[in-house]
Parts: sequence; structure tokens; C-alpha cells
Amino acid sequence: MKKIRKVVFPVAGLGTRFLPATKASPKEMLPVVDKPLIQYAVEEAIAAGMEQMIFVTGRTKNSIMDHFDKAYELEAELAAKQKTEMLAMIQSILPSHVSCVYIRQSEALGLGHAVLCALPAVENEPFAVILADDLIDGGERSCLAQMVEQYERYSSSILGVEQVGEDETDKYGIVDSVPLEKNIHRIDGIVEKPSPADAPSTLAVVGRYILTPEIFDMLKKTERGAGGEIQLTDAIAMLLKKKQILAYEFSGNRYDCGSKLGYLQATVEYALKHKELNHSFRDYLAGLELRSGE
Ligand code: UTP
Repeated sequence: MKKIRKVVFPVAGLGTRFLPATKASPKEMLPVVDKPLIQYAVEEAIAAGMEQMIFVTGRTKNSIMDHFDKAYELEAELAAKQKTEMLAMIQSILPSHVSCVYIRQSEALGLGHAVLCALPAVENEPFAVILADDLIDGGERSCLAQMVEQYERYSSSILGVEQVGEDETDKYGIVDSVPLEKNIHRIDGIVEKPSPADAPSTLAVVGRYILTPEIFDMLKKTERGAGGEIQLTDAIAMLLKKKQILAYEFSGNRYDCGSKLGYLQATVEYALKHKELNHSFRDYLAGLELRSGE
């Protein structure tokens, strides 16, 4: 069994739900308190043992490259001002054993197409995919680390899933599955954004995947599906006919930071846990509650 070392971050979407904020800068650079979404995603990947970060980027995404690059001027200024803690913090964003690869998706043809763009970097290895706009606080063990653990037991592709409301199925890929053991299901079918009436369950795929390289052959054959996009879900449905694929209900809280409400919820909850802010922010929220009750 090959160890999973590579992770793909598809960051080439248009982010229309966050316009105008995403007109000239990527959704993945939106900060939750003081860290951009993509940095949380990269930290999660590193905590799960990933060594190569593969970003599938598009127009307006240069700031992502800059964020993970050395910032000579800033570092020199911080050093000159003896701001050693801040200097250490920005220098440690990417540990030295981790490398980055950037691949351009010239047109936003869908998540499936974005993953296929990563083929020259992934090659013939199992790999992970993280959608940075799904921010997951896995507590003591990051969501991807939990999934890698399951991969090591089963050697199958694994999709991160969670239960959603019946009225929310049309926002997700939804699986038809049978439970194998606690939190692990064998997937029998998968469908992209079904209406509540057509959904096979309420078990929704979220932005975490471990995929075996056979997915690329499926993606090459996948035609445009829901929303006119090349859907990863459709390629997974094809792969299912040949290989076992599992769904894993991770432990932790997910925030859909691609939506305004999810992003605000993440901001509030991460601020409440932040070491500089937690007390003052809690006081502020308590004051707001008092005022709204007046
Ligand atoms: P979304 O469905 O959230 O689309 O993509 P989006 O374009 O980012 O945002 P909205 O819906 O217009 O607001 C899911 C993930 O797939 C990536 C996105 O960057 C996001 O991480 N993606 C999507 C690509 O990389 N390329 C694409 O062509 C489409």
C-alpha cells in the first residue's frame, strides 16, 4: 500500500457566492480571524502527513502563491524591528520538508476537471483532496488525519461525509450507502445535488477526499453534468462500479465558508477560541445580546 503524501487543493472556482469580495482575490484567502482559509487547509494536510501541496489555481489566485512563498521584504522589516515572534510565525507557515506545486486550470470547468488538472503532479499514487472553503475543526485529530488512518486500514478511496438536513441535499453530493462499522459506510451509489425528493439519503460528501489514482481514468471520461460542470461526483460514481469506495463520518465541526452564513459562524467560533480575543470577544457578544434584549 502506497503512503499518501500528496494533497490537491482545487482553488480555481469563481467564488460567485462571495462576490464582490472574490472579484479580484480568491475565496480561499478570506481570513477566519487572522488566517486565510487556505492556510487552515494546508495545516490540516501537514498534520495528516502530507508532504506535497498541489494547488490547482486560476485567474486572481496569485496571492495564494505569494502567501506560501518567502516574503523577503516583510521578513527583513520584522527582523529590523526585532518583532521576533511575528517573524517566526510567518517563517513557519510552511515547514521545510513540505513542497508546493502550482497548476493552472485555465477555465473553471468544474471540480472534477480541476482534480484532473492535478494528474501530472499526482501521477500514479493515492492522494488527498481538500476543499479549503469547507473549514473543519477536527479537535485533537484533523479530519484528513482521521481519514488517512481509515485509508491505512482499508486501502480504498474514502470520502468525508456528514449528515445534512433533508432540505439541503441539493447543495451536496449525496451517497447511497450501507454501514460497515461505526462511522464507516460502503458506498453503493452517489448523486450530485439531488432534490430532497430524489436524494438516496442525507449523508453528504464534504470537501475531504482520499482517492486512488484510477479516478483519473474516470475523470477523463466524465462529461459535463450538474450545472454544466465536470463533476468529481460523476467520476466517483463510475469508479464505484469497479472499486470499493467508503464514506467516513469524521469527528469535528465543519463550517461551509463558501457561504456567507457558514463563514460568519466560523469567524465567531474561531474568535471565541482565539487566545488573544476570546475574553474580549465573548464580552462583546454578551453586550450585543443584552442590547438586543432591551
Ligand atoms: P464551489 O462549488 O464552491 O464553486 O467549488 P466556487 O466557484 O468555488 O464557488 P461559488 O459556488 O461560485 O460561490 C468547490 C471547490 O472546487 C473548486 C473551488 O475552488 C472550490 O474549492 N473549483 C470549482 C475549482 O477549482 N475549479 C472549478 O472549475 C470549480
